[in-house]
Amino acid sequence: MSATLVGCGSAVPGRPITNDELAERLDTSDEWIVKRTGIRTRHWLSPGETLADLCVEAAREAIADAGVEPREIDRILVATVTADRVTPGLAPDVARLLGCGAIATADVGAACVGFLTALDLGAAAIESGRAERVLVIGADALSRITDHDDRSTAILFGDGAGAVVLGARPAELGVSAFELGCDAERVELLYADTEERVLRMRGREVYRHAVRRMSEASAAVLARAGLEASDVDLFVAHQANARIIEATALELGVPRERLSLNVENVANTSSASIPLALAALDADGRLRPGMTIAMAAFGAGFVWGAGLTSWKDPIDAGR
Ligand code: ACO
Repeated sequence: MSATLVGCGSAVPGRPITNDELAERLDTSDEWIVKRTGIRTRHWLSPGETLADLCVEAAREAIADAGVEPREIDRILVATVTADRVTPGLAPDVARLLGCGAIATADVGAACVGFLTALDLGAAAIESGRAERVLVIGADALSRITDHDDRSTAILFGDGAGAVVLGARPAELGVSAFELGCDAERVELLYADTEERVLRMRGREVYRHAVRRMSEASAAVLARAGLEASDVDLFVAHQANARIIEATALELGVPRERLSLNVENVANTSSASIPLALAALDADGRLRPGMTIAMAAFGAGFVWGAGLTSWKDPIDAGR
């Protein structure tokens, strides 16, 4: 049995916060931010709002989209580095709020590669017969770990949650061909430590490594699946910076019109970035059943990953 993507959903908190609003208190401008990053707006959780509630909003949409009931989900994986509490993580709360019963739940921490890592784990659980329907959520509130007085990072990050439901059914591609890696020698280029608790980054160096690792990992998954760049209908890379996504696609040989560029609206939402981008593509009518989607991400660690998924088809979720 293959793991296949059968539903998706998304949620962002509050209203869009514009670059001009940030420029009111930081030495920056809308022009600089758009030119260097492609970002125009981001959303931030307000004090008192929880990431768990945002996860549930995205999950409900994904579950409804998949045409299943919360009780039919048998595992929940939530990728995050900004859970509401130190412990427990988000996944048990999500199961409780959705009414899923006593199912397996776990949080997965792999920075901006968290969603792809959780997707790989969820797909493996289905392929091995340990689960039939897995809810995979990517959710982060990077506003909680941002130095809002540092113009070089404060403009980059946003909060959000995206969810997909994986089902078990025969599929040619399904959710497959993952390539994940790390290079812990470069940890000092991008991290948040336990004392300061804010993201510190050497942006230019991160940029260079992100392009190289995402394009190499994507080429590896295409080779593993016996596909070429020309077989990719859409390339959904981690939405950190439009220039990084464009440079990675150029390296890979995927034309610009096949890119997902959602960073403009939501900024860098870490684990939420890829499922938010998928949901936005779906809402825009850019996805058709059976399309081949290549995904890639890069983040603190350094960690990176890439994988493939065919877009959902109209059959029910493996029942
Ligand atoms: N407004 C105006 N000027 C700024 C700002 C700002 N917000 N931020 C930095 N600058 C200035 C710098 O001080 C510097 O000035 P100087 O030349 O006088 O010293 C100049 O702009 C150039 O700075 P760079 O950092 O070299 O600018 P760059 O073109 O590299 O863009 C950016 C910076 C946007 C951060 C880019 O390097 C980047 O996107 N890096 C990768 C980020 C990333 O992908 N992270 C992914 C993993 S992180 C995660 O996902 C959690």
